[in-house]
Amino acid sequence: MSKYYITTAIPYVNGNPHVGHALDYLLADVCSRYQKSLKNEVRFQAGTDEHGNKIYQKAKETDVPVQEYVDKNAKKFQDFIADLGVEYTDFIRTTDEDHERRVQQVWEKMADHIYLAKYDGWYCMGCERYVTDKEYKENNGICPDHQKPYEKLSEENYYFRLSDFKDKIREAISSHEILILPEYREKEILKLLDDSPDVSISRPKSQLTWGVPVPGDDNQVMYVWMDALSNYITVLGYPENDISDFWPADVQFVGKDILRFHAILWPAMLMALDLPLPKTIVSHGMILVNGQKMSKSIGNVVDPLEVLDKHGDEAMRYFFLRHIDTFADSDFTWDKFEDAYNNELANDLGNLVQRLATMCKKNEFELSSKEQFDFSDEYKALMNEFKFKDAFDYAWEKVQAINKRIDDTKPWMLAKEGKTDELNKVLEELVNSLLKATIHLSPFLPKTSEKIFAIFDGEIEPPKEPLFPKN
Ligand code: MSP
Repeated sequence: MSKYYITTAIPYVNGNPHVGHALDYLLADVCSRYQKSLKNEVRFQAGTDEHGNKIYQKAKETDVPVQEYVDKNAKKFQDFIADLGVEYTDFIRTTDEDHERRVQQVWEKMADHIYLAKYDGWYCMGCERYVTDKEYKENNGICPDHQKPYEKLSEENYYFRLSDFKDKIREAISSHEILILPEYREKEILKLLDDSPDVSISRPKSQLTWGVPVPGDDNQVMYVWMDALSNYITVLGYPENDISDFWPADVQFVGKDILRFHAILWPAMLMALDLPLPKTIVSHGMILVNGQKMSKSIGNVVDPLEVLDKHGDEAMRYFFLRHIDTFADSDFTWDKFEDAYNNELANDLGNLVQRLATMCKKNEFELSSKEQFDFSDEYKALMNEFKFKDAFDYAWEKVQAINKRIDDTKPWMLAKEGKTDELNKVLEELVNSLLKATIHLSPFLPKTSEKIFAIFDGEIEPPKEPLFPKN
């Protein structure tokens, strides 16, 4: 048994969760359930990013004290994760006292690589990111993600000397000491790394009050990303506790929009702290709606609670893990969601379970030998490479193959003709195939898998209600 550490990006709590936020959790949950099946001891972090001007201003707009505002929204994220059937082990909020204290210690430990200087440049509050002059020009002064003009900043800040680590980061990424997935993002990151200046890591208190104070300087507050990235280790107790049982992380799940922070600034911080680097960073794509980026101004934001209300958590997991690609951008539309639910979940799987269990019961069939089921090598290879959608497809093909086998072997004919031995043999094969497919489905659809195992355990009893009722 080995220890396995999985992390997820911590969302800003400046609003409600939207469907885009589901991906980090779902991918991490699949990974966690799979690793647990392999008998590894998993630690799975989730949390919320609660500092910065973006959140502060949102709270001010709603006229609620900031702490109250972030408390309320953090709770919504916690509820949302639970509603997805996701089981994490640790939840961290960047406003937790433990985190704030530890982040200050992290800062002090990096002191050799920090200096004070004047920043004259651009900032995007939507991204909470400093923008280079080159980018400013390329984007004509407007953030393409947020469609808002960059702000001009002219202030004294602390800087983190990224230049101390650039060569080592390049080497770590190229040698796959840190494996960036999908691999085609590696080049992009190396290019960005070449263009990255030292990073401003604080703001004057006159400009930012809602953040962790810089230790030893009453006039400065830490830049949100410094604070936020540290969560992956402060949650384990760093630097107060020895974290070597679980750090380095085996995998960190993030969206492609924030890969740059995780593949450049974060490794540099770890190097400054003399800590090992994460083994893998998986960057997933964006969820689009009818081909467009979700945005409040377009008014196309999909509320995940509405998706959950429609057909429940297993249906949401099904769609977001099989019809949303693990790595590339993918489209959510209600039509696609309904089609997948009716044609695949309800027909391919729900009907199969109902049909097969009914045939078994009618013919008083019970499994004579229960095979030992393991993940197949092909499936394991896909899961180990974090190709979760492909692994899910593989499991689903097994489900479809059983449907085909039923049509080919026609057990109802065998029953009608009184060919009991042959019928029992066919049912034995079909039930075992279904149980084998179900093992492969279990990281993706844990509740459904449990139901299927229960139905076919001992005396076979068809479900009273269809697994996926049509409406
Ligand atoms: N607070 C930072 C992360 C700090 S991690 C140390 C942040 N927050 S976020 O709320 O903007 O995004 C949280 C996660 O949700 C990120 O992984 C981001 O990529 C993901 N997504 C946000 N919108 C998304 C889609 N439309 N589609 C898929 N994932 C998206 O960035």
